[in-house]
Amino acid sequence: MRTQVVIVGGGPSGLLLGQLLHLAGIDAVILERKSRDYVLGRIRAGVLERGLVDLMGQAGVDARMKTEGFVHDGTLIGYDGEMFRVDFAHHTDATVMVYGQTEVTRDLYDARDATGGDTRFEVENVVICDPDTDSPHVTFDHGGQSHRIDCDFVAGCDGFHGVSRKTISDAVRTDFEKVYPFGWLGVLSETPPVNDELIYANSARGFALCSMRNAQLSRYYIQCDTADSPDNWSDDAFWDELRRRIPEEAAETLITGPSIEKSIAPLRSFVTEPMRWGRLFLCGDAAHIVPPTGAKGLNTAASDVHYLNQGLRQFYADGDSHGIDTYSQKALARVWKTQRFSWWFSNLMHHYPGQTEFDKKMQLAELAFLRDSPEAQAAMALNYVGLPY
Ligand code: APR
Ligand code: PHB
Repeated sequence: MRTQVVIVGGGPSGLLLGQLLHLAGIDAVILERKSRDYVLGRIRAGVLERGLVDLMGQAGVDARMKTEGFVHDGTLIGYDGEMFRVDFAHHTDATVMVYGQTEVTRDLYDARDATGGDTRFEVENVVICDPDTDSPHVTFDHGGQSHRIDCDFVAGCDGFHGVSRKTISDAVRTDFEKVYPFGWLGVLSETPPVNDELIYANSARGFALCSMRNAQLSRYYIQCDTADSPDNWSDDAFWDELRRRIPEEAAETLITGPSIEKSIAPLRSFVTEPMRWGRLFLCGDAAHIVPPTGAKGLNTAASDVHYLNQGLRQFYADGDSHGIDTYSQKALARVWKTQRFSWWFSNLMHHYPGQTEFDKKMQLAELAFLRDSPEAQAAMALNYVGLPY
């Protein structure tokens, strides 16, 4: 068979791209390795930049987000027993939306169903063939049979462990990586959030984050050792440690309950260049990973999707390839700025093994500078609500 765009990966990047292309009358087939339930079972960050909020609107999938999501116009930073606020609305005239990535993905699947889009789940052995020619095709196994789809373009939206990035010849690809010497132990609990805004806390015992999904569902994290295991942490031990790391006024009002999910995520910064090879384009986690501090993963995927959607629309509407020719350059320019923010915020908030007393003083001085300087807060707010596309 033939289609215009084969999208490898049915996570948020692939689904959002598929929906935006559909609205422009561009046909796409989505190939997903896992089942839909598996994709919807993943728990990921839940803070949407203004750009992604707009894209959800453009894609016609923002109805539930608008009623169930929470607009946040600031965040709290705790350190050294105190807490200060960075006011996004004041510094940027913009806000963020707290709405779980799982819900974003569910809304996109529902929209895909409504359009009758061709989505194949549980495909195996996806191979992207001849992406460096004008006539690429993709082969895969599905339902015990081998298939081939000819196409104009391939969008590699298959995450960090997908095939798309590895398809780009080593001769043209460069990977940049930083692995952090700690992870995040996360707990989801059916309890009201400790605060109506997120609290990012730097403490001598390590970082902690108080986040939420809704009024009855909270998400908390504590920095942990990379070799640690969730099995080492009873719920009580987790809550005790969280209380020790967050400012006292929050610790005193924290409502705890049984965890409904507990897992450890490693922290990594990763970028591959270029993000385009011939007719293959990488989007989202396939091309880059950020540490979760600041919740930029999904948001950076969304800006890639925006640039690729624009480029493909321009190509199909006017035969103009400028947008796709500059895709990698435009996407990477923003990706690196977002990497810088996530790296800066991670460095600011975590306790590093072997950190010297001088390093600790520098962290505290930087936090005090952020607390006292409206300009520093404005820079943080600009990045947090999302740099313009
Ligand atoms: N063939 C088909 N599908 C694949 C393959 C493959 N070889 N390899 C991976 N996939 C699928 C995965 O099963 C997954 O559903 O691609 C999808 C990629 O989804 P994500 O990993 O969620 O990546 P992406 O869609 O780019 O989402 C952006 O933002 O918050 C971050 O990391 C978080 O997932 C999030 C990301
Ligand atoms: C989350 O809610 O999971 C979350 C929120 C903010 C972050 C990271 C994760 O910076």
